[in-house]
Amino acid sequence: MCGIVGYIGSKPAQEILVEGLRKLEYRGYDSAGIALCREGKLEAKKTEGPLTALEKRLQADPLTGHLGIGHTRWATHGKPSDENAHPHMDPGHQFAVVHNGIIENYLGLKEELQKKGYTFTSETDSEVIAHLLADLDDGDLVSTVRRAVRRMRGAYALAIIRCGEPDKMVAVRLASPLIIGVGDGENFIASDIPAILEHTRDVYVLEDGEMAVLTREWVELTTIGGDSVDKELFHVTWDAVTAEKDGYDHFMQKEIFEQPRAIRDTLAGRLKDGIVDLYGELSLAEEDLKKIDRIHVVACGTAYHAGLVGKTILEKWAHIPVEVDVASEYRYRNPLITSSTLVIAISQSGETADTLAALREAKKGGAKVLGITNVVGSSVAREADEVLMTWAGPEVSVASTKAYTTQLVTLALLGLHLARVVGTLGREELSDTATAMLRLPEQAESLLTDTVAIEQFARGIAGQENLFFIGRGLDHAVVMEGSLKLKEISYIHSEACAAGELKHGTLALIEEGFPVIALATQQAVRDKMVSNIIEMKARGAHVLGLALEGDTEVGKSVDEILTIPKTLPLLTPVLSVIPLQLLAYHTSVVRGLNVDKPRNLAKSVTVE
Ligand code: M6R
Repeated sequence: MCGIVGYIGSKPAQEILVEGLRKLEYRGYDSAGIALCREGKLEAKKTEGPLTALEKRLQADPLTGHLGIGHTRWATHGKPSDENAHPHMDPGHQFAVVHNGIIENYLGLKEELQKKGYTFTSETDSEVIAHLLADLDDGDLVSTVRRAVRRMRGAYALAIIRCGEPDKMVAVRLASPLIIGVGDGENFIASDIPAILEHTRDVYVLEDGEMAVLTREWVELTTIGGDSVDKELFHVTWDAVTAEKDGYDHFMQKEIFEQPRAIRDTLAGRLKDGIVDLYGELSLAEEDLKKIDRIHVVACGTAYHAGLVGKTILEKWAHIPVEVDVASEYRYRNPLITSSTLVIAISQSGETADTLAALREAKKGGAKVLGITNVVGSSVAREADEVLMTWAGPEVSVASTKAYTTQLVTLALLGLHLARVVGTLGREELSDTATAMLRLPEQAESLLTDTVAIEQFARGIAGQENLFFIGRGLDHAVVMEGSLKLKEISYIHSEACAAGELKHGTLALIEEGFPVIALATQQAVRDKMVSNIIEMKARGAHVLGLALEGDTEVGKSVDEILTIPKTLPLLTPVLSVIPLQLLAYHTSVVRGLNVDKPRNLAKSVTVE
């Protein structure tokens, strides 16, 4: 979603802000802008469209100064336009503000300010902040911001500058991510670390209700109320290049190929002497874990699909009943939550608004919440009682890939840990499973060595408008992910069907040449799956089958066949999803689409 960058120092701010915004492009945006302070005057330039449009405008008419804020906007209140782009300023150009989030009471504030004569030029909720600041201006940026923020309800991350104080900027966080970068004679504000990594590795992660005042020389952290806040600097160890394409054509491709490494990192240190060990990471005592009598998984999109696989893993290994909910539905269905419910919130970004709302609902109901996330210091990581990191590394492409496989591996580790604690798996089973898990990175690697057959199939389906994915059991969960991936980056309509359901309606759509992707990797239902494939073939479908290496049956009933290495059935989704990710990727490439930034979508969905 929206991205924020702020700079104060001795270098020209324009370039630093634009470069910072470029690093945040992956979050998704439809307009961009910057505002700089020079000789006590604020000037802003903003444009609808890509950052290059803003750069063009800046080339023609640059902004100079050593203090500034920048923003990439993803429209919520008001269409994408120059006027609605940030930064927003008050009519007297006293304040410039960039905002991520939603000001829920903006209509009331706007009406109040309009009555006082303030004229609004945008449709956004954010503009109200600039006018409110002007209205409450007491000559001091910090105290004015404090008083303004007290009037605002909603979620926000803010960066604010005031023309009368060219040596200061202020950042405020309430429910939208914000970090402060600490440099040498310069300091930064950003929504995310990649934006400032080129300049500093030392950051403060602001918590909800916190504020930072930045000058060139120092950073002061307080609560919005003014109490001082003492927190440690977080030193970023990963390299800037990790967040770049690294020789691949697209971030998605890079992230697919990073999966063997990512899975290795997820497993590292968690299988000791061949047995799972999460004792150091989970603070819940064994007695508390034993009391868990139901698990709810809440997540969105790809993370939700990981949860569907997790359900089977947790139920089979730990014998605890699991319900999986799309996070946006969870709190509206009044779920039965007790103190012996464990709620698992899965989120790559850790900032997905719906997942956070479900997490908060679970906490309100008295459940223990365990977050599975990829982002250290994210809201999920901070708000959950327990956290298991996926350690996939930054995921930039909107289409989630390595996040999914590492979420599956983390869920499997958790399943094993619970099974160990509650005693549902013996030492031998624990150890055999751990051995199988340790082989996953190398097996994933083998799936990435030759992708020619998938590329060929991608060329075949690139001209199609509709496609079905079918599977049974865990294969059904995996085809849901395969279908989402294809839809979001190739714009081909596809549906994922439980293969046994086809005869109850969907089969009516099958006609000569209709493309179908059939997963048949679950041995327990393999024969039933073959029958379903034959039903499709009989109606003219063109079927690509995915089976286990050594399976001689599935290949006989399909038009084309791909195979994946054998592992335990419950771990197979970690491997079977990879050809589907590659298929979506290559189809998007063949269609000439924007693989990493599909239309209408954002990487981090921080509004409900
Ligand atoms: O950051 P999260 O894991 O919470 O994001 C959840 C979904 O928005 C995300 O998985 C989305 O479905 C992806 N674009 C799918 O590729």
